[in-house]
Amino acid sequence: MPKASPTKSPSLAQLRLAAKNAATLAYAPYSGFTVGAAVWTDRGLFTGANVENASYGLTNCAERTAIFAAAAAGARHVERVVVYTPTPSPTAPCGACRQVIFEFGPEAEVASCCLGAETLETTIGALLPGAFGPSDLGIEPADYGAVDTAARPAAKRAKKTS
Ligand code: THU
Repeated sequence: MPKASPTKSPSLAQLRLAAKNAATLAYAPYSGFTVGAAVWTDRGLFTGANVENASYGLTNCAERTAIFAAAAAGARHVERVVVYTPTPSPTAPCGACRQVIFEFGPEAEVASCCLGAETLETTIGALLPGAFGPSDLGIEPADYGAVDTAARPAAKRAKKTS
């Protein structure tokens, strides 16, 4: 599993700030509930915000936005997820996001931060006990496939022309 992170893990305070900044970019005209997420992965830091849609069910939560961005950039291991909401008390990830966190971070640490100092620190194991996951389909972390982005055809083409 490509577990090793590229650089030293950021502190919770640094991830909280990244998530807080991400929340300012939320597209939440329907709920008015803005959420930011920062995820620390084997490819470094990724952030995301919730993106709502007039067809409400198509809304994407901040945690999933961040993890999908990470995965699309080649990340395959999520070490830590930090969620920020500008609310008086912390907000835990929704069920769908818990499932997506588990996919790449079966041992991920999850922290929820808010306006004040109160922080909810837990793990995905506690948030989603007995989870269904890759191993139920015979996929082990070693099979996730570390992505060598430099070896991708598109990356090679871009290199030739630059
Ligand atoms: N939301 C998140 O971004 N993350 C969660 O874990 C819970 C909910 C968003 C989705 C929607 O845009 C708004 O919060 C209200 O549900």
